Amino acid sequence: MAQRMPLVAGNWKMHKTVEEARHLVWDMLDALRDVPEVERVLCPPFTALLPVAQMLLGTDIKVGAQNMHWEEEGPYTGEISPRMVAEFAQFVIVGHSERRMLFGETDAMVRRKVHAALRHDLIPIVCVGETLEQRRAGQTEAVVRKQLLAALEGLQPEQVARLVIAYEPVWAIGTGEAATPEEAQRVIGQVIRAALAEAFGPETAQAVRVLYGGSVKAHNAAGFFAQPDIDGALVGGASLDPVQFPAIVRAAAR
Ligand code: PGA
Repeated sequence: MAQRMPLVAGNWKMHKTVEEARHLVWDMLDALRDVPEVERVLCPPFTALLPVAQMLLGTDIKVGAQNMHWEEEGPYTGEISPRMVAEFAQFVIVGHSERRMLFGETDAMVRRKVHAALRHDLIPIVCVGETLEQRRAGQTEAVVRKQLLAALEGLQPEQVARLVIAYEPVWAIGTGEAATPEEAQRVIGQVIRAALAEAFGPETAQAVRVLYGGSVKAHNAAGFFAQPDIDGALVGGASLDPVQFPAIVRAAAR
């Protein structure tokens, strides 16, 4: 297996004022600093990106945005451009299921955002995953494949090798009902890496880091990280807990 550096990203979603964000970072900074063998990424809301980035100066902990527009600038009221994000962040979450389901983000929009992120030297964390209905209808493989290949269409293998994929089954997000490590491994290994190998070649498929996301907690994280094709986690709820999040990061140090 290719040597891929584990990565754990915390998606704070719409939580934390600047003041609250500062407290949260303070409370976990020492614990996070201690795990250099895992790439650690904090994804606060836009308003807290700058203060969080400032607090992390001089550490190797990275910052990510949770979304962005694909255009450089222009008449897009309420949007944030890749140039703006790249001032503070190294990563950007793209195509999270909450964006797709609550804000009408389509595969075509996700693709534009992935391309825009790479143009600005931001590493996109591209989210894919099936809903409960799709899972029950036996469509997991088809849905995940389609979302993945649509998001990466038009990229060169060397660009694909740099980005990060997060497999986040929608039914597991925020529900406390995580997929089993075996299920997550099956989709990531047999669907995601297989599709990457077909489209971009086996070397690229082995180089890409693929995370699992959906109710990852301190008590279940190690099970996911023990799987051969899972390189880390995208963590929602537990990333707001200054004890649990570093514990998840430590579990990824292998
Ligand atoms: P959760 O969220 O860990 O709270 O399930 C994961 C995510 O939405 O990225």
